Amino acid sequence: MGYNFMTADEAALFVKNGYKVGFSGFTAAGTPKEVPAAIARLAEAEHAKGNEYQISVFSGASTGDALDGNLARANAIKFRTPYQSNKDLRGLINSGETMYSDMHLSHLAQELRYGFFGNIDVAILEVADITDDGEIVLTAGVGIAPTLARIADKIIIELNHTQPKELKGMHDIYEPCDAPHRREIPIYSVKDRAGSAVVKVDPKKVIAVVETNCETVVAGFTPVDEVTAKIGENVANFLAEQLKCGKIPAEFLPIQSGVGNVANAVLGSLGKNTEIPPFTMYTEVIQDSVIDLMKQGRISFASGCSLTVSSPVMKEIYSNLDFFRDKIVLRPIEISNNPEVVRRLGLITINTALEADIFGNVNSTHVTGTKMMNGLGGSGDFTRNAFISIYTCPSTQKDGKISPIVPMVSHVDHSEHDVKVIVTEQGVADLRGKSPIQRAETIIENCVNPEYKQLMWDYLKLATKRSHTPHTLSAAFAMHIEFLKSGDMRNTKF
Ligand code: COA
Repeated sequence: MGYNFMTADEAALFVKNGYKVGFSGFTAAGTPKEVPAAIARLAEAEHAKGNEYQISVFSGASTGDALDGNLARANAIKFRTPYQSNKDLRGLINSGETMYSDMHLSHLAQELRYGFFGNIDVAILEVADITDDGEIVLTAGVGIAPTLARIADKIIIELNHTQPKELKGMHDIYEPCDAPHRREIPIYSVKDRAGSAVVKVDPKKVIAVVETNCETVVAGFTPVDEVTAKIGENVANFLAEQLKCGKIPAEFLPIQSGVGNVANAVLGSLGKNTEIPPFTMYTEVIQDSVIDLMKQGRISFASGCSLTVSSPVMKEIYSNLDFFRDKIVLRPIEISNNPEVVRRLGLITINTALEADIFGNVNSTHVTGTKMMNGLGGSGDFTRNAFISIYTCPSTQKDGKISPIVPMVSHVDHSEHDVKVIVTEQGVADLRGKSPIQRAETIIENCVNPEYKQLMWDYLKLATKRSHTPHTLSAAFAMHIEFLKSGDMRNTKF
């Protein structure tokens, strides 16, 4: 059948005010670019005429500036889920103009199927190829595209010619049945494939095809510095020691590694530590450092939801697809982050904390308990179900004015029951098998910056020892309150 080819601006006219719109992709990878920019132009034109125009945006995770940035600047987003990392959108969320639901990423596809969000009016999908009978080859990020393609009323395709059709075979598209009919997900090792290479859509639902040559722009990382290198070294030495004493099986276990500067540096250090054998990854985002380690033979296989790599690395992968094809698989987020699979495979999970408290609770999302940074992403999907869950962070932020380790976190994303190890550049706190007071002593001794150590001991002393988890509620947030008052937590007095 012939599809309706048109410009992005023509396609955007199908997206009406108030629509619930689902987008393919995960991070900037696999996310449509031209149609979102055209929707933003449409919103601005409608606003200039005095008309309302806002949509609800559903995606696999964060997108790129082309989507969240353009739509936020046009004030076109009424509701957003499940994750974002865009400066302009963050501003709207924190000023209360955009409603944001921060979700475990593995939950969204099934909650859409359950109907918890109502109907999806239109799905906008970036593809490398589409056949007349509706077989789609996705691009570098899968996200929730397979579910969107099936449940949305209408589909707009962005056919991106910078994405090779030869990507076919790199994806493993599998959607579980819903309860009470769900069976086990048939992934028993990192390399297993459970589904098909393509997404199948009903060609009659495809209302527009927009051809584009837009490149995917992935934000770069700040270079590894002394602090992030030391955090990485501490994680690698801890895992090597666990391997040596038999607490990690001799063949090692698959690694999940989080997002951001710290996570990128940690993975680099794991690769360098030759006491750790070549390993596999069952992770969410495949970043530059994974590809680097793959070329060195340190990572033998990576399963993820997206290839979120810089442009030179992406070009390298696309021009060497024969080398990478049997070393990478891209899955829907519901599968890459699936708790059942995470627990079965026994993942070693490494994520970054915004702040952690002396009892092991972790805040991944809220600055001083109120301002959203990004969202919890997949960190919770992995942490609760890990073989060992590790959280890393530097022992100070903002030139020493902030200690990310505090008496009580100002917001909880991961509780003391799920977080097993905390690592800063100061050292490693192994929390397994410890009571709250023992955890507090280990974290203060091993992870807190020397500039904050006495302060933290003072807090622990102040807190009554006659309770299971000693806290003095009137002082628990004294460091946060001091930061808001003077801009420096070091001025705190207990
Ligand atoms: N209070 C205030 N600001 C803080 C802070 C704290 N306790 N901890 C970090 N920050 C600020 C940093 O100063 C930095 O600010 P800047 O951008 O103005 O320089 C920013 O947060 C990022 O910190 P950085 O040290 O560069 O870490 P990062 O890039 O590794 O990001 C997280 C850290 C926590 C923000 C990021 O990992 C995240 O969003 N995690 C949640 C999602 C997740 O874990 N996904 C993984 C799923 S698989």
